[in-house]
Amino acid sequence: MLPEGYAEEDLKVGREALLGGWSSGSEPNTIFVRARGSKIWDSDGKEYLDFTSQAWSNNIGASDPRVIEAVYAQAKELTHLRSNYDSVPLLLLASRLTAEAPEGLSKVSFCLHGSLAIESAVKLALKNSAPGGQIIVLNDAYHGRSLAGMGMSWPHSERAFDSMTPSVIRVRQPYAYRAPAGVSPAEWAARCADELRSAIKACAFRKPAAFIMEPVQGNGTQLDFPRAYYQYVRDICTELDVLLIFDEIQTGYGRTGAMWASDFYGVVPDILVFGKAAGGGFPLAGVLASGELEGFAPGDDALTFGQPPVNLAAGIATLDILASDDLVANSAAMGQYATAALRGMQKRHPIIGDVRCPGLLIGVELVKDPVTKEPATEAALAVYRGALERGVILGTTKYAGLGNVVKFKPPLCISREEMDYALNVFDDVLTEITQS
Ligand SMILES: Cc1ncc(COP(=O)(O)O)c(C=O)c1O
Repeated sequence: MLPEGYAEEDLKVGREALLGGWSSGSEPNTIFVRARGSKIWDSDGKEYLDFTSQAWSNNIGASDPRVIEAVYAQAKELTHLRSNYDSVPLLLLASRLTAEAPEGLSKVSFCLHGSLAIESAVKLALKNSAPGGQIIVLNDAYHGRSLAGMGMSWPHSERAFDSMTPSVIRVRQPYAYRAPAGVSPAEWAARCADELRSAIKACAFRKPAAFIMEPVQGNGTQLDFPRAYYQYVRDICTELDVLLIFDEIQTGYGRTGAMWASDFYGVVPDILVFGKAAGGGFPLAGVLASGELEGFAPGDDALTFGQPPVNLAAGIATLDILASDDLVANSAAMGQYATAALRGMQKRHPIIGDVRCPGLLIGVELVKDPVTKEPATEAALAVYRGALERGVILGTTKYAGLGNVVKFKPPLCISREEMDYALNVFDDVLTEITQS
């Protein structure tokens, strides 16, 4: 229902006034008005199961009353503070989060968006390396929409911002399902790691400042790498003295079935970037950094709304809920359950080329033919549409990569019953589109 006093016409005028540039307008007939847990309702009262967690952010579920209470309590006391003063939630969350961090990441800083946190991570790397160093990134990476983030992500289609973006070197990522013919995933991981080593060594006069990677590429086809790759990159960065940054904006806060992908893969980066789920639906992001790095000097990373007390209070409540509701364990259990079910479906649906995880970071790659692996891009869109009609919002990759991956990334509080419902919908829609 629309709020009282507003008419459809007001919304239409508002939509026409939007400058665009994000995804607004891609679903012009749907306006969402309410969300709770794994569910969301549109302005017609239709209920959906949200398997996107709204840009993979609502790990603890939407609008948790415990977060709202914490936010309200903080907002009544203090909403905004200049960044040269400390607030109580700032200090409490710093203490809580560094206690949850992978070993050695004993320093933390906060901001409001993943893209800004990526910038902080790169600034910290530049501060701790020889001047002028480039950043090494993986192909099909996504690190945000600031100019620096776009420069480190897959090239933007219009290339309009190229001259403003930082200097990066791109190396191939070990995409096991699409490894060259006859090359095993393990061998492909080793070869891609060698490519990283060669790229670093090729920078003979200006050593790179850092190698940044998403432990599981989110927008770039929902891609995890062969397990050995993580240790390879850690070893190479240590040996050649290049900082390793994990962009855990999607993989952190329990998504992999462990608190951090770093825990899941048993590899600790020098800098870990977090965001999305950190504020329990409120904007919050930041970096965790090795205590051995030189930190920021006053002003290096100051933003007017860098550490809003309200968002930090939401961050504390989020950590409480993750622990009290055992959500990381549920992510692991539901992830295993859904992945097994999807791999079972693969036997009946040859359109399913690959099922990837871990945890609730599930990607299903659709192909026209399991042998040629030709991407079934239109089918992915048809699955999305079919599931939406039946009340399940699935994700798809629209940007980097091939556009043929359907994503299952629900809140970590998803129940078995809700998971079964979504899996059945997916099964039915696949049957429908492959038989039509
Ligand atoms: C891996 C990764 N890095 C960075 C970002 C940018 O975060 P934000 O959109 O909060 O600026 C995102 C957002 O989708 C992301 O998935």
